[in-house]
Amino acid sequence: MGKISLAAKVTHVPSMFLSELPGQHHGCRQSAIDGLIEIRRRCEATGVDTLVVFDTHWLVNSGFHINASARYQGIYTSNEFPQFIQNLAYDYEGAPALGDAVAQIARAKGVRIEAHHVDTLELEYGTLVPLKYINPDHRMKVLSIAAWCPWHELEDSRRIGEAVREAIEASGCNAAVLASGSLSHRIHDNNEAQAGIHTISNEFYRQVDQRVLDLWTQGRFGEFTAMLPEYARACHGEGLMHDTAMLMGLLGWDKYTGKAEILTDYFTSSGTGQVNAVFPLAA
Ligand SMILES: [Fe+2]
Repeated sequence: MGKISLAAKVTHVPSMFLSELPGQHHGCRQSAIDGLIEIRRRCEATGVDTLVVFDTHWLVNSGFHINASARYQGIYTSNEFPQFIQNLAYDYEGAPALGDAVAQIARAKGVRIEAHHVDTLELEYGTLVPLKYINPDHRMKVLSIAAWCPWHELEDSRRIGEAVREAIEASGCNAAVLASGSLSHRIHDNNEAQAGIHTISNEFYRQVDQRVLDLWTQGRFGEFTAMLPEYARACHGEGLMHDTAMLMGLLGWDKYTGKAEILTDYFTSSGTGQVNAVFPLAA
């Protein structure tokens, strides 16, 4: 019998890498890094052996997709932010059986989804950046699920989240599940970007993000799930917030009553709103 030991919404801002370099931005994202390191500590303390990541940088245009490779290995340079992420070497053991089980269960729920075993299907940085801090010794297996889903129904992502929970519980895995994406995600206009590395692109987005965090920390997920579709559109949710819909599906959607724990206080980065938050699970 498997179990989920940790569920979280996590940031993957590349400015964490800048934060580690000498220079103007040194230390600027230490709080974000510390939040991810705390998740690593909790994973180690609870014996987590598998990380499932909903990745809002893996764009899929038809169907839902799971990277169920037995091993992920490569050297990653971001084609969208090559100035920030270059030559990031990675080597993780995959979780192919779990990936197949998620796809099978989700298909039974009516979702059009496939699990792929293709060595050349690479990971994206929504998975790679958090794992650099959460899984630096490559101890934990990894399963990456696409969550940049521009033409997809949030209801399907909710079902995928349910399927992830059922597949983990039917497996022998001790898993942590990470929704890797921002809150609001309206990146600055190009000529504002360099000066705006630490700011939000519009005050409206900050105000809505902060209201959402109030709902999360107060355990008001009936209200949050009711506003999620409009929030995702109005605030340009990263990946249209399919990572969040998958996480909410896993947690129980509107029936979830846990109170989110904020590990990294809300911060703004390159126009977007970011947080690290853990969602307590019933014993
Ligand atoms: Fe992102």
